[in-house]
Parts: sequence; structure tokens; C-alpha cells
Amino acid sequence: PNLANWRAADDYLSETLVGHDPALEAALAAQQAAGMPAIEVAPVSGKLLNLLARIAGARRVLEIGTLGGYSTIWMARAVGDGGRVVTIEAEPDNAAVARASIDAAGVGERVEIRLGRAAEVLPALEDDAPFDLIFIDADKESNTIYLDWAARLGRPGSVIVLDNIGRDGDIVDPASADSMVVGTREALEMLGRDPRFDATALQTVGVKGWDGVAIAVVV
Ligand code: DHB
Ligand code: MG
Repeated sequence: PNLANWRAADDYLSETLVGHDPALEAALAAQQAAGMPAIEVAPVSGKLLNLLARIAGARRVLEIGTLGGYSTIWMARAVGDGGRVVTIEAEPDNAAVARASIDAAGVGERVEIRLGRAAEVLPALEDDAPFDLIFIDADKESNTIYLDWAARLGRPGSVIVLDNIGRDGDIVDPASADSMVVGTREALEMLGRDPRFDATALQTVGVKGWDGVAIAVVV
């Protein structure tokens, strides 16, 4: 297998199953124009978040790591009228770009962006809990802190999605000094060991390269 084929297949799947989406494409264009990194989820993964939220009947979603609002829009569409997405972003410039894109996508009323470091914002969300779905996609070094808060701010049955567990396979390299690899592996081990979670993980290869996602339910 070669990566070019995987990318072409992912493009095909995106075209076939996700399709042209002006609001999401505008969000990506705004993100790029602002000089933000293109590390949003792939279209097929954004749709996975949307489908998981709908399958779970989620009305309240928590996102850790807004970036340009791409995944936020996907999930905001899923919660329906009267649903709510709280999304945490540490970088004010990112939040401003995301705010505009989310509003332009027509889901602004459903989305509240909380500005700040997630580890500091999360304790203030107890009044907004329980969240039905929690998407963790921020600094990988803090993943275990975010998982702990996800368990506290969820309820039995809440869905937790943890992004970027693939890391080009480096998660099995015990010598890796990459703090993102270490943070990811610690999070996976926590998901396996901590009785508050029941989890699995899927590796993905596509437009974003070799990566993956862990999916858990709060027990
Ligand atoms: C990185 C972070 C992400 O959330 C992502 O989806 C891809 C890459 C990173 O920091 O390398
Ligand atoms: Mg990510």
C-alpha cells in the first residue's frame, strides 16, 4: 500500500459520502487565510463526529480545541435546534476566526466558545454538564487531564472521542521523546485502565496521513 493511494481513496470517500459543503469549505479557507495550521479533522472524520453525535442523540457537546471551527460546525449541525456546543480555545485569534465561520455556517446560536487554557476552563463547566459527547482535540500533552474532565463532565453513556492517536505509528516506540507521542500513549493507557471508560481505537490513513481516533463510552 502507498500513501498516495490512501489519499486518493480518502478523497474519493469524501467526494462520495461527504460532498461539496460551502460552509465547511469557507471555514477552511478562513483558517488558512489566517495562517492557522491545516490540522483540522479530515472531512470523513468530521462526518464521523456528526454521525456519532446523532447516533448518541447528543444535545450537549463539549469540544476541547476549536482551532478554526471546522469540527465545531460538524457537531453543531448534529445537535439540532436548541442543542448546544461548548468549545474551548486557548488562542484568541483562532477563536475569532472560528466565531465568524461558525456564525456564517448558520449554527452560531448553538455554539459557545470559551476562551482560555482548557485545564483552566474545564472546572468552570460543571454547571453546563452533563455533556453527551466530548471531543478532545487540543494539546496532546494534556490528554489525560482532558480525559479526567471528560469523565467528570459526562454521564454514564456519554461518548468521548480523542483525536490523533495514530501519530504515524510512533505510539509503540518506547524511545520516542516526542511529547505528543508520550501524551497520546498515556491517554490510551488511561482509557484501557481507568474503570470510568470503555474504549477502542481505530487507525486511519487518508488525506491527513497515518493517524487515528479513540472512541470511548463513560461507564
Ligand atoms: C496535530 C494536532 C491535531 O489535533 C491534529 O489533528 C493533527 C496534528 C499536531 O499538533 O501535530
Ligand atoms: Mg486533531
